[in-house]
Amino acid sequence: MATATKARSDIKDSKLAPQGKKRIHWADRDMPVLARIRERFEKEKPLQGVRLSGCLHVTAETANLARTLKAGGADVVLVASNPLSTQDDVAASLVQDFGVAVFAVREENNDTYYRHIVAALEHEPQVTMDDGADLVSAMIFIALDRLDDVHAQVRAWAQKLPPAERQRLIAQVVGSMEETTTGVNRLRAMERDGVLKFPVIAVNDAQTKHFFDNRYGTGQSTLDGIIRATNLLLAGRKIVVCGYGWCGKGVALRARGLGARVIVTEVDPIRALEAAMDGLDVMPLAEAAPVGDIFITVTGNSGIIRREHFTEMKDGAVVCNSGHFDVEIELPALKEEAAEINAGVRSHVDEYKLKSGRRIYVLGQGRLVNLAAAEGHPPSVMDMSFATQALTTEYCVKNKGKLAAKVHEVPREVEEYVSRHKLASMGIEIDQLTVEQKRYMSGWEQGT
Ligand code: ADE
Repeated sequence: MATATKARSDIKDSKLAPQGKKRIHWADRDMPVLARIRERFEKEKPLQGVRLSGCLHVTAETANLARTLKAGGADVVLVASNPLSTQDDVAASLVQDFGVAVFAVREENNDTYYRHIVAALEHEPQVTMDDGADLVSAMIFIALDRLDDVHAQVRAWAQKLPPAERQRLIAQVVGSMEETTTGVNRLRAMERDGVLKFPVIAVNDAQTKHFFDNRYGTGQSTLDGIIRATNLLLAGRKIVVCGYGWCGKGVALRARGLGARVIVTEVDPIRALEAAMDGLDVMPLAEAAPVGDIFITVTGNSGIIRREHFTEMKDGAVVCNSGHFDVEIELPALKEEAAEINAGVRSHVDEYKLKSGRRIYVLGQGRLVNLAAAEGHPPSVMDMSFATQALTTEYCVKNKGKLAAKVHEVPREVEEYVSRHKLASMGIEIDQLTVEQKRYMSGWEQGT
């Protein structure tokens, strides 16, 4: 079995496994809810024989999720959901020490990225896990025969499949979990267009996920990435945060905590108002461009920082992204404006010298700076997200054939389990409603 798994994998270097194993165990110390689920899965085997393909960031935290799914009996294939986020030592250990098939190499190019997606498809998954919906969207395009819309690697593979098998690829999926806001947006668009053919659980939308992972995880790890990449002091600097969703709030409020002067740009009037009432400066990006020192996009949309903004920025401005895809910063426009590009002036830092002589520094090639230049969200928050992933997978398998082909919310009992066990692991107890309080809350008679 182990040999077969090794043969099925594509990783950088298996000799990195010992370091990766230490990293996986270090993360595991701070993932108690997931560990508890793993212990139960080990005994009950609720995922016995289930073929599962995960297209996720291949990190130490994800490794502990993969171990949990495997403990539950699943046959797991893991591929990268971003070319820059793979931790090669972790990938090596997953293959060598934990018998998980992994197809992920840090800094893989687009061809390899999609060759790895093909490996996830070849596994003929009954359960999929996505972080950004790249795996599910490939499956849907194939089932719709829209092979012009998929990457050449996926097209070449799909063209060899007889039409019935293309359909079987989606017909056998009992459930699909989605980890991130961007992925959920794409899946809801699929549902709206009537092309979503299997049930999807919006893991991102669980309160135990986005309240914590998006806010505290993205908040801390984004600043961690900026600091590791640049070693800049944030205190006193003007940090422009584009987007005030859960991730944006986390980044902005943590930046303020480090002494930065934070400016928020938004298109949503309610979020803009919230930022203003949180005590932050709010203005259009065109006004922020000439005054900001560090710009962080975290909108989930595309084309946020554009040519007209780059040309107004100060000498030495730093630009980075923490939104899922690398489409928030218009790098092609910046390249056109640059008289000179010096890649790698530090690790993860590229210098663009504009025709005006001003220099702009782009971190992590405009990809997720928290995973490219740091280690992503810390284990303690991924504990909740990945406990939710494991429990919703179990829910889909138990309810095979009963869930409608649409985007589902995470069941309430999963949210309760995760929050209660997280609190317990933190040694925190809470009050219970009294009988009188329950009666009061469910009645209407008692008033002034
Ligand atoms: N997304 C953000 N941070 C992550 C991490 N540490 N592991 C997996 N996915 C992530």
